[in-house]
Amino acid sequence: MREARDWEERMEASGCWPEVSAWVRAVMVGQVPRHRFAPDVVWVWDGRAWVGVERGAEPRRWAAAVYGGPYESTVTQVLDGLPSSSLSCGSVVADMLDSLTLRPGDRVLELGTGSGWNAALLAARAGVGCVVSVEVDAGLAADARGRLDSARLGVDVHTGDGAAGWADGAPYDRVIATYAVDVVPWAWVAQARPGGRIVTPWGRLGHVALTVADDGQSASGWVQGLATFMPSRGVDQGVEWGQIPRDGGVETEGSFPFPVGELGDGNLLFALRVLSPDVRITVRRSGDGATAQLHDGRASWAVLTDGVAVQGGPRRLADEVSEGWLRWGSAGRPSLYDFGITRTPSEQYVWHEGADGVRQRWEPTAPTNSVHAADPITSTGPASTLLSRTGTTPGTPSATSTQLPPSPLL
Ligand SMILES: C[S@@+](CC[C@H](N)C(=O)[O-])C[C@H]1O[C@@H](n2cnc3c(N)ncnc32)[C@H](O)[C@@H]1O
Repeated sequence: MREARDWEERMEASGCWPEVSAWVRAVMVGQVPRHRFAPDVVWVWDGRAWVGVERGAEPRRWAAAVYGGPYESTVTQVLDGLPSSSLSCGSVVADMLDSLTLRPGDRVLELGTGSGWNAALLAARAGVGCVVSVEVDAGLAADARGRLDSARLGVDVHTGDGAAGWADGAPYDRVIATYAVDVVPWAWVAQARPGGRIVTPWGRLGHVALTVADDGQSASGWVQGLATFMPSRGVDQGVEWGQIPRDGGVETEGSFPFPVGELGDGNLLFALRVLSPDVRITVRRSGDGATAQLHDGRASWAVLTDGVAVQGGPRRLADEVSEGWLRWGSAGRPSLYDFGITRTPSEQYVWHEGADGVRQRWEPTAPTNSVHAADPITSTGPASTLLSRTGTTPGTPSATSTQLPPSPLL
């Protein structure tokens, strides 16, 4: 297929093929091409709504949507007008497989089967019968099972809440999630072997790779890269910018001491996300200046322009961000790759390792609205609560910063 060949070349030109894990390219373009797992209807944004494109009716347009580009995901399911499953963009699929350091013969648990493509990639490397995958949506799970069975890759697909992992198949050498969690479910650590690796999108910005300790009582590891994944279904994401009530507290105008345009720096954004996990920041540039919109998905908001902060609602978000920005500056402006996460049975914390090799915890600077941030241990709801909508509408200021390197909702 012409689109598939172009896509491979654009992945190459963008430096998306991992150098060390050469197998990733081989399976993604050779053994298990993306289009074999794409459903007959994929969804594209027409400027106002998501519209279906049928493979049979519009084969070229369908292929173009499946192979949009290295940084473009392909929406494979829309519920209530919003994307609820997608084929993640090629660059991040490759990056996460690289982070997983998957070896032939490894037993793998995948959470978020979706179309089944990533499960197929895992099985092509690990081997037939080595992969178990859990998908919360029964219809998606059934379709993926059919595709995986046709490919004879021996992937065991189950319907359920990925937060519980899949105990019957444990222990696993590798665990990989393709939806975002704020807190890594303890089940994933408990079901992995000591020395095993867990790769998962974390929060709104990055993906992490954790290694399970020898005693199995913790898992710890570094941030690996930027990625903005769909959150776990059922986790309340709050409201979008336009729905934040403007009458929920005192509105004040004051000075803002930092250049707002710098909020386009992924490293700064990452540090702010660590310190204020539920604050979403969207930056817009116009002419020489930049404007940032901040909100907490509930009732607090702020608008920052160079020198001025207007803020409203019960929290002072501009002040929180100033405090976080100061902290990032005094820590030597660390890169997001200087951060890591540790999960134990009782808590999850984020740390930053300085040039001296000393690790310091970074705790949120203010109480947040996020159930995940407030109570990491009870953060994962039961499958019966997995009903709410997920996804983000293009053009709407959202949890996704628009100023990072391409960071689609995957
Ligand atoms: C980005 S898509 C997955 C892409 C998939 N790996 C593929 O190759 O098509 C995320 C998937 O995670 C699923 N999901 C979201 N929350 C989940 C949960 N708590 N447990 C299991 N699956 C979940 C969604 O239904 C969706 O299919």
